[in-house]
Amino acid sequence: MPDPISLVPLPRSVTWSSGSWRTDDPWGGLSVGVSEELPRTEYALSITPQGAHLTAGSEAALADGRNTFAQIVSDAAGEIPCVTISDAPRYAWRGLHLDVARHFFAIADLETMIDAMALHRLNVLHLHLTDDQGWRIEIKGYPRLTEIGAWRDRTVIGIYRPEGEHEFDDERHGGSYTQDELRGLVEYAQRRGILIVPEVDLPGHMQAAVASYPELGSDPSRQVGVREVWGISDHVLGVSDEAFAFVRDVLTQVADIFPGPYVHIGGDECPRTEWEQSPAARARMNEWGLTRVSEIQGRFTDFAADVLREQGKRIIGWDEVLESHLPDDTIVMNWRRDEGVEESTSRGFPTVVATERFLYFDHAQAKGHEEPIAIPGGITTLEDVFTGRLVPKKLTEEQEALILGIQGQLWTEYIPDAASLQYMALPRLCALAERAWGSPEQSWAEFRERLAAHLPRLEALGIGFRPLD
Ligand code: ACM
Repeated sequence: MPDPISLVPLPRSVTWSSGSWRTDDPWGGLSVGVSEELPRTEYALSITPQGAHLTAGSEAALADGRNTFAQIVSDAAGEIPCVTISDAPRYAWRGLHLDVARHFFAIADLETMIDAMALHRLNVLHLHLTDDQGWRIEIKGYPRLTEIGAWRDRTVIGIYRPEGEHEFDDERHGGSYTQDELRGLVEYAQRRGILIVPEVDLPGHMQAAVASYPELGSDPSRQVGVREVWGISDHVLGVSDEAFAFVRDVLTQVADIFPGPYVHIGGDECPRTEWEQSPAARARMNEWGLTRVSEIQGRFTDFAADVLREQGKRIIGWDEVLESHLPDDTIVMNWRRDEGVEESTSRGFPTVVATERFLYFDHAQAKGHEEPIAIPGGITTLEDVFTGRLVPKKLTEEQEALILGIQGQLWTEYIPDAASLQYMALPRLCALAERAWGSPEQSWAEFRERLAAHLPRLEALGIGFRPLD
């Protein structure tokens, strides 16, 4: 029997049968239960003329089953075809990253993205909460982070080129979330089967914090502002006791707000310029017995890991953390090169594949001037996301087993509002979900056809997307 309802991602096993369940209240008629007889990641859904029944091996798998059910009932008005589904994901980490620092998004906008993720059985929202251009999270004892660090007076217009001249918009931009708002978001996500992993990017990407508290930088007598252009800032954390106390205070509060097992500590793109020029940094290196300036970053990584371990959490870092000392319990998030995945897994680190080549959704989706301006650095089409090689060929079986999953990235330098965010995320997010779930292999043409039938569902839910070509 041909599929009467298009599902994205496609479950492992779907058998439609004739007959239907007539109901005006499908959620009311769904019975659910966790069963110890099923593997923890598996769910089974059956719809018969009498009703619908969902069992799963865990609460997480139950959420997956509910999210599949949501697709089935969303467009089957009053008459739902009978089906038997048995399903489990390939990867435990099916992630979407969202940068709320370069542009601020209201909680309601984040909830819409969570809805979109849940519908596609993605289960990790990686929230990039701090960066040079904005600090977005309330930290008790550091009010200037949100009074000053959350706001920039103006923003560069158009594509930023470090060597070029630029115009600015002269509009104050910013905003931040209270701890209570973030706790509410955590709960909203949890109810839909999604874990929020917070990121505090350190020791680089810290200009907004240094603008709020100059003593956190390498030269306390210098006042910098919140960064108004994109690119990489030299204003990173200094090595003072104040800077380390700050890291402890921030991570301790973050660990308390976000109950999940992981905190992302960034670690990417940290210039050493200020450390190289700082007598205090040189003195610290002597004290710590370090010979290379880059090892200062390793001290931050170790310190952050220790603080978070005390809270029962593990750190995650972008793959640059591999370049200096790294605790054994780190999880690596690879964005730059395939060799990074080979290295992290050969050194035994669980790894999330977030490759810039195929999974950066801030890239334009097509050539041509009809597309909104996007980050320079390449085009990533929907087909690229569906077909690109994500996990390097060369891995051994042991290394493969260390791949936790895959994740799409939404950096928001060129994504100023919720409509743009949805346009850039979808439908690439659908292809990401298909791969993260490990759906039965289909050709690009088959996927595209299934997607064409699925997109009206997004429209009905009020979620924006780029139409298919
Ligand atoms: C990154 O794109 N800087 C992780």
